[in-house]
Amino acid sequence: MSSLSLQELSVSRTDREQSSGKMTSAKDDLYPRKLLDYMEGFMVSKTLFAACELGVFEQLHASAQPLSAADLAQALGLSSDATERLLSACVGLELLNTQTNPAGEVFYSNTEMSTVFLTESSPRSLYHSIQYSSRTIYLCWHYLTDAIREGKNQYEKAFGINSKDLFQALYRSDEEMVKFMHLMNSIWNICGHDVITAFDLSPFRCICDLGGCSGALAKLCLSLYPQSSLIIFDLPKVIQTSRQHFVSEPHERISFCEGDFFKDALPPADLYILARILHDWTDERSIELLTKVYQSCTSGGGVLLIEALLYEDNSGPLTGQLYSLNMLVQTEGRERKGSDYSRLLTTAGFTCVQIHRTGKLYDVILAQK
Ligand SMILES: C[S@@+](CC[C@H](N)C(=O)[O-])C[C@H]1O[C@@H](n2cnc3c(N)ncnc32)[C@H](O)[C@@H]1O
Repeated sequence: MSSLSLQELSVSRTDREQSSGKMTSAKDDLYPRKLLDYMEGFMVSKTLFAACELGVFEQLHASAQPLSAADLAQALGLSSDATERLLSACVGLELLNTQTNPAGEVFYSNTEMSTVFLTESSPRSLYHSIQYSSRTIYLCWHYLTDAIREGKNQYEKAFGINSKDLFQALYRSDEEMVKFMHLMNSIWNICGHDVITAFDLSPFRCICDLGGCSGALAKLCLSLYPQSSLIIFDLPKVIQTSRQHFVSEPHERISFCEGDFFKDALPPADLYILARILHDWTDERSIELLTKVYQSCTSGGGVLLIEALLYEDNSGPLTGQLYSLNMLVQTEGRERKGSDYSRLLTTAGFTCVQIHRTGKLYDVILAQK
């Protein structure tokens, strides 16, 4: 009994009381389970990050049979004892399955979720998102308290770089830019279909994905709207990398445009997609960009915003609320409510604002010229 944690004690006592039909006492209600979970939440993230970075899921996927901690440690050049603890924690997190042989040896294999989402080669992989969360986002969050005091991003403290030009800081090396592009790319493997089909986009024949990055959404549009052609607009370095690594197959319905959307003319189009663009910027810069979009848009055309929308009464969703803090530590922007985007759009001249919540990470707003 003495080896049980406080949490386990609480569970077993509650279970006993429930099975004997007794009411839970007020003292048990005060057990701060939620707070303990929150306090230790970073340990969960770090366990996932470490297992991914060390190649645990990849190695188990490549192996024809479940592996012991010692086998895995040897294959990956890790400490055997430490690997056993890591694997055990992954079992607790339901990222790995175990089998025990008659001699009591434990063997580990991936769960289906880990195979689909945590191995690098899977078409629905979150591997690159996890890498970026571990190596960049987590470091910025270390300075969240300072960010709240100062009301600004924490690139200077986290990486020793000036963040006056946001994307110069984000793209501080070619390697960092490619990592960011992989991060942007990977989430659309999971949420892309929902956002691109939220509204019927078939009336829009020329679609420009502004800040289109890796071209993930443009490629999805191509497959879902066979009558449409796509322009991917982004900063020159991003477009060059996109063509080299992400949209390397030439396609007659995809073209590329290098430029700065604040400074250069935008290509004319029937629909502009701005996916996760406005959340990087202040209201003033967002209105400046939307006004430019309005002026370049053909009459009867529109704009499609793809963002994580907050509820109107500030009650959630929690992911959007946390993303808004993430925008604070990393960018100049914020996550917003539907009504905030509506205001920005109408200020820029757009009308008929329609909002579609997908129930997943990203929601969609369509407005017309
Ligand atoms: C947060 S990312 C979103 C990428 C993509 N829309 C998506 O959702 O996956 C912002 C994108 O805007 C691009 N961007 C930032 N500033 C820009 C500028 N001044 N002109 C053109 N593109 C810019 C970045 O290179 C990046 O691809």
